[in-house]
Amino acid sequence: MISLKSIKGIGVCRWKKQHLQGCRFVLFADIDAAVKLLLKLKVDYKQMTGQDYKAGCPPSENSVVPDNGPTADGADDEDTVNPWSVSTTNAKGVDYDKLIVRFGSSKVDKELVDRIERVSGQKPHRFLRRGIFFSHRDMHQVLDAYEKHKSFYLYTGRGPSSEAMHVGHLIPFIFTKWLQDVFDIPLVIQLTDDEKYLWKDLTLEDCHRFAVENAKDIIACGFDINKTFIFSDLDYMGSLPEFYRNVVKIQKHVTFNQVKGIFGFTDSDCIGKISFPAIQAAPSFSNSFPQIFGGRHDIQCLIPCAIDQDPYFRMTRDVAPRIGYPKPALLHSTFFPALQGAQTKMSASDANSSIFLTDTPKQIKNKVNKHAFSGGKDTVEEHRKYGGNADVDVSFMYLTFFLEDDEKLEKIRQDYTSGALLTGELKKLLIETLQPMIAGHQERRKQVTDDTVKQFMTPRPLNFNI
Ligand code: TYM
Repeated sequence: MISLKSIKGIGVCRWKKQHLQGCRFVLFADIDAAVKLLLKLKVDYKQMTGQDYKAGCPPSENSVVPDNGPTADGADDEDTVNPWSVSTTNAKGVDYDKLIVRFGSSKVDKELVDRIERVSGQKPHRFLRRGIFFSHRDMHQVLDAYEKHKSFYLYTGRGPSSEAMHVGHLIPFIFTKWLQDVFDIPLVIQLTDDEKYLWKDLTLEDCHRFAVENAKDIIACGFDINKTFIFSDLDYMGSLPEFYRNVVKIQKHVTFNQVKGIFGFTDSDCIGKISFPAIQAAPSFSNSFPQIFGGRHDIQCLIPCAIDQDPYFRMTRDVAPRIGYPKPALLHSTFFPALQGAQTKMSASDANSSIFLTDTPKQIKNKVNKHAFSGGKDTVEEHRKYGGNADVDVSFMYLTFFLEDDEKLEKIRQDYTSGALLTGELKKLLIETLQPMIAGHQERRKQVTDDTVKQFMTPRPLNFNI
């Protein structure tokens, strides 16, 4: 006979079974969702870092975070900054504070500028005083070591896409010369004629010729021949095995996925472009230059450049510890704006947007008067009454780059803002600053002989104490 108790028992058992099945179902659904989430996170992780996720191996401090450009949340919805394009809708120019956050670099603040002054014993360059070199990576580390008598070397470069460089290109070179002088250190300058051949519709011969022509402009900036080595990739890569060995090591440690994430390469880009970043990375390591550093791989490198080049060096810094080298440090500059306004950088591809180092005094005057975007008011009466806007005025911006006298610059800003100084008068001040500066450059360039270029570009020991 079946008792009530046993029926209840069966009922309880059934309930337990159903409940357990339900629990199991809930459990499976949870696991399923968790697995899906994990897989999605792994995909996100790979997209962000370019590496496969490994438990217990967090990404390094400087893992290769792609710059995805304008973000969906609107945080940087106006600014595009990469090696090929710089643009913003803001008339004041790129929002550099946001860029520091987006690129994960550090601000060049007053503390750092004061420290550079203390360590070098020199008044900071106007580019530092005025926030033109505004961002850095590991500059404190470079100074810590320098204070302990561990020196460093400088590395910068130029992509020779045409015979004539523009005034914007001078910014990193002027600053690099100052760094070389105040720290008394060696410098290597890479001319990426290979890069320009890969990216532009130019012959190899043209690119190499432009490299030699551009070297003359660079030498005219006043670099010390005993401490400076300038090289064309097309020449140097084939002549020094150590350089190419580093290129290959770097290539082995960067995936296609990573360079796609960092540089936006697509399946239809030629493979030369895809492997080129390793060539721009290699000079960051001292053993790429055995004739200079005697095979030492541990000498710290500092790279001054505009911030458009940072993607190359985010990649380099990620690779460095994995191949046993120190990460290069960086100092980034803002962009010298186009004549038409700070929405884009000065670029050689638009002749009217640029003042070239080959321009005559008359061309400079005409370009400034005709094209330099003005923050002034429409009529003299309105300008006198309301004043001009120096924050968007290209002539004023150019003066912040080139007028040495801080007090004079501040007086110009105040007078323009109050309306005491008219647009035409401001432009005249700029023309009077640019004309002798560029004429002086042209004069120094004329003195640079083929023989001088050859000396700078010959692999050789340099004169320094590291
Ligand atoms: P390139 O030739 O485009 O530019 C040369 C240098 O000038 C900077 N620059 C500017 N700076 C301020 N305002 C501007 N409007 C402006 N336009 C260009 C660039 O940031 C760069 O520092 N791939 C590189 C060549 C290169 C390189 C390097 C540059 C090879 N190795 C190491 C810097 C550091 C190029 O095509 O640069």
